[in-house]
Amino acid sequence: MVGTATPADNPALPAGYTYLAQFVDHDITFDPTSRLDRVDDAEAVRNFRTPRFDLDSIYGGGPKASPYLYNNNDQALLLIDRAPAGPRLAGSDLPRNSQERALIGDPRNDVHVIISQLHLAFLAFHNAVVIHVRSNPALRWGNESEFQTACRLVRWHYQWIVLHDLLPRIVGPQTVEAVLTRKGKRYDAKLKLYNLRFKDPYIPIEFSAAAYRFGHSLVRDSYLLNSSNPSPLPLFSADAGGADLRGFRQLPEQLRIEWERFFPGLDGAPVPPGTPASGNLQPSMRLDTRLAPSLTHPPIDVDEQRRSIALLNLFRGQALGLPSGQDFATAVGRRIGASVHVLTPDELGQPGPLPLWFYLLREAEVLGG
Ligand code: HEM
Repeated sequence: MVGTATPADNPALPAGYTYLAQFVDHDITFDPTSRLDRVDDAEAVRNFRTPRFDLDSIYGGGPKASPYLYNNNDQALLLIDRAPAGPRLAGSDLPRNSQERALIGDPRNDVHVIISQLHLAFLAFHNAVVIHVRSNPALRWGNESEFQTACRLVRWHYQWIVLHDLLPRIVGPQTVEAVLTRKGKRYDAKLKLYNLRFKDPYIPIEFSAAAYRFGHSLVRDSYLLNSSNPSPLPLFSADAGGADLRGFRQLPEQLRIEWERFFPGLDGAPVPPGTPASGNLQPSMRLDTRLAPSLTHPPIDVDEQRRSIALLNLFRGQALGLPSGQDFATAVGRRIGASVHVLTPDELGQPGPLPLWFYLLREAEVLGG
């Protein structure tokens, strides 16, 4: 493993999964309209992403509704780089406008150079699948266009990754098995805890505004991106002009990622969840109540006042009127008809109700180690 391991590291979770989890977040939930400075109606919050794992963050509304995401010369292909003449299948950076803002389906996928390059990898993957479909027409179903077939295959690979790689690494394989119900060898779409109340799937506000923000605690303060940059760089430097991994700019050449520093198994050998990181792999941080210094002073593009992400999460929970962690745990117990351990003041380290986001991090620390 790179550098000196500390007790705050989680060697069982390579750093790339922090950002795959963030990428998934940006595919399923986005609430750009509710405000921190007033109480919002949680029932009225509109999700600007579809919660279907359909990669709308990559495809936008498709070539007709979001043509700026596609290659004008060949609209089955996603645009990469600055659209040079002729189709570009892969490239070195996201496509950008003249002010360096990325032309992508979700602006948050440019917030730092790790997620922008992960987004770029998905664009290149889609383009590679289009070429594959062209030489294998039998892959097309019915009247599907080459584009539609490629999207279906890309989404299926992505959904497979979420279910079989990301999820077991985050919640543990036993929890995945306990929640998914199986019919013979196939998973049934019916989940134990989450039933479709409406025809369309929705994201519970407790998930987007608290639980899934668990990922903020996995973020390392600094990362080594490649072999030509021997010292790790902070995600966000405290000094606004300092060298860091911030995004919303043309990717500096020296910040190109070598993915084997972030994900295991890129040499083709599958690496089961829980295998300790080794070689050049960097670990994520443990799921606990600590936050990397980079997240306590994000750039102004993230928050104009450069407030800590922890503060933003707590304000958001308050503005949306989220229940306390203790009330939430009690309600979940009632819902599943089993006793759920509600953390005691001793375990929490303080009396009184705790905000849901913080409570869940504390729960991971106390119950999950
Ligand atoms: C690495 C850098 C990251 C930065 C700078 C960042 C920043 C932010 C910010 C500024 C917000 C909005 C806060 C608010 O006003 O409510 C937010 C929301 C959120 N973040 Fe992060 N985040 C990061 C990583 C992650 C990761 C790794 C995950 C999950 C694995 C995650 C999950 C979420 C979720 C679910 C939301 C709510 C999204 C919505 O519904 O609008 N974030 N993040």
